[in-house]
Amino acid sequence: MFYEPSKGHGLPHDPFKAIVAPRPIGWISTVSKDGALNLAPYSFFNAISSHPHLVMFSSEGEKDSVTFVRETGEFVANFASRNLAEKMNASSVDAPRGISEFGYAGLTPAPSQMVSPPRVADAYAALECKVVNILQPRGLDGASAGVTVVMGEVVGVHIDEDILSDGMFDYAKAQNLSRLGYRDYAAVTEVFEMLRPRWKAD
Ligand SMILES: Cc1cc2nc3c(=O)[nH]c(=O)nc-3n(C[C@H](O)[C@H](O)[C@H](O)COP(=O)(O)O)c2cc1C
Repeated sequence: MFYEPSKGHGLPHDPFKAIVAPRPIGWISTVSKDGALNLAPYSFFNAISSHPHLVMFSSEGEKDSVTFVRETGEFVANFASRNLAEKMNASSVDAPRGISEFGYAGLTPAPSQMVSPPRVADAYAALECKVVNILQPRGLDGASAGVTVVMGEVVGVHIDEDILSDGMFDYAKAQNLSRLGYRDYAAVTEVFEMLRPRWKAD
């Protein structure tokens, strides 16, 4: 089959996010200028550069995470793993501004070192970030897509040393959680290695 998204897919559910899957989940903690805590998962999230470490998340509509990021210029991208899946999901509740999703989801905040928003204490890793860019993309029709993309540079990295094996981040142990399409998720259970080909001049 082929379809043009602007004309509809004709399927029971939109397959777009099932195709662009798995997506890592940026579990974003922020704090407002008045000190209100916020925590929410974003699967429109990824790393976009190694040097410097840059990450991005995208909010469909101006959600609290974006509002708080605009106020303070800082966020933490906490690592979502299989053992925290239910709490991660609970933190996506549409709680009124000022209600901390840490409390709602039964999670403990732990202080960050370089930024003001706290991290999720139980997360195996957390990236402390300072905002470098906020974009509002347009569609082909020139109209705003109603989306805000926040890019941040990672200024501090926390790793739970229990999740290191021989100094390497152990995905199989951590079971990195990712978002698929529909209501589906996946966790890393199998890892295999491949080396990149190198062109030989001779
Ligand atoms: C796994 C998961 C991934 C999500 N990804 C996104 C996303 O990429 N962008 C978005 O706008 N909302 C996403 N949501 C919904 C937000 O988490 C939800 O709207 C939340 O209430 C936003 O919180 P905030 O207003 O405190 O920032 C996701 C929800 C879940 C459960």
